[in-house]
Amino acid sequence: MKRIYFDNAATTPISEEVIEFMSDLMRSHYGNPSSIHKEGREARTVIEEARKKIANLIGASIGEIFFTSGGTEANNMVLRCAVRDLGVKRIITSPIEHHCILHTLEAMENETDVKVEFVEIDNKGIVNLANLEALISEDAGKTLVSLMHCNNEIGTLLDLDKVSAMCVEHNVYFHSDTVQTMGYFPINVDETKINFLAGAAHKFHGPKGVGFVYINGENIVKPIINGGSQERNMRAGTENIYGIAGMAKALEMSYENLDATREHTLGLRNYMKSQLLENFEDIQFNGDHEGHFHFKTLTVSFPQSPKSELLLLNLDILGICASGGSACSSGAEKGSHVLEKIQMDPDRKSIRFSFSKYNTKEEVDFVIEKLKTIVQVKEAVI
Ligand SMILES: Cc1ncc(COP(=O)(O)O)c(C=O)c1O
Repeated sequence: MKRIYFDNAATTPISEEVIEFMSDLMRSHYGNPSSIHKEGREARTVIEEARKKIANLIGASIGEIFFTSGGTEANNMVLRCAVRDLGVKRIITSPIEHHCILHTLEAMENETDVKVEFVEIDNKGIVNLANLEALISEDAGKTLVSLMHCNNEIGTLLDLDKVSAMCVEHNVYFHSDTVQTMGYFPINVDETKINFLAGAAHKFHGPKGVGFVYINGENIVKPIINGGSQERNMRAGTENIYGIAGMAKALEMSYENLDATREHTLGLRNYMKSQLLENFEDIQFNGDHEGHFHFKTLTVSFPQSPKSELLLLNLDILGICASGGSACSSGAEKGSHVLEKIQMDPDRKSIRFSFSKYNTKEEVDFVIEKLKTIVQVKEAVI
């Protein structure tokens, strides 16, 4: 049975070109990049070329890019280094960040004397910028603002330029978790002043288990993983050379096709949205779905009905991959913290469909037809 992959916010299929590129490298480059012989030097060159490519794409210097095991490690590194090495005393974040931010901050509150404050958000997940400015303006010691560029569950976007300008004006550090937007939006640290950002290759058709962190050169920080002198002493351990090279290739391909990818993916998202509205009873969309949203993400909620129970499981059985979530109502069942914080009705069933350049309109039609068999259709449609 053909399967349809509409879960591209969770991860993306690796593009064929990247698979080819990585496979060739695996055969030809087996040296340890720290070895001084020819094989080692060749492996080192692959890594440094990847660093140069990524730095150029996002407007950074090569010394500002460090490779990590993914978005989680990159974000951990920023938060921990900011407090330990830069003297940050207060971190302002939002209650709907990814768990790799929220759980790290929770741990850090126990381990250090850092104070964590939460900016207000509304029921679309939009950050209240006036509240952010009021918090930043308080005289509360060295501050880091950590806000995600795009929420992975509901697709709401942050205005990076506005927050950046605010942070510059008030002289506070700014970190953005750009894991959902890297490779989709023309992020450029030359144009948008930002101290730290994070990327993960598997979100933009690269391999899993590899990512990078951008740390603005003015910020001198120390490693959180100690050992050898890899990554200019910033992250010990033999480098994931194939992952790193594959990530740079995938990011390069993404930047070359930003407009085409946007046009295609946004078209699918909007078509899916119109089909859902046309066919189903009492449909709602989560997040800032008509304002500032990620074009790859569409999170829809259906009213409670016996048919909508086990929706994700039924979709899976029908060959469709999507993600779900419910708001946490009783505390007994662990629901989505994001849906809970945007005060989503816990009785409604949310499904996140997320698209990529590889999806087609025919796939949307197929999903709509299958959905008709498991959720309440409009009477006119019957
Ligand atoms: C917004 C956001 N931040 C961080 C991460 C974590 O990235 P990784 O899976 O590469 O550790 C994800 C992945 O789901 C994400 O969507």
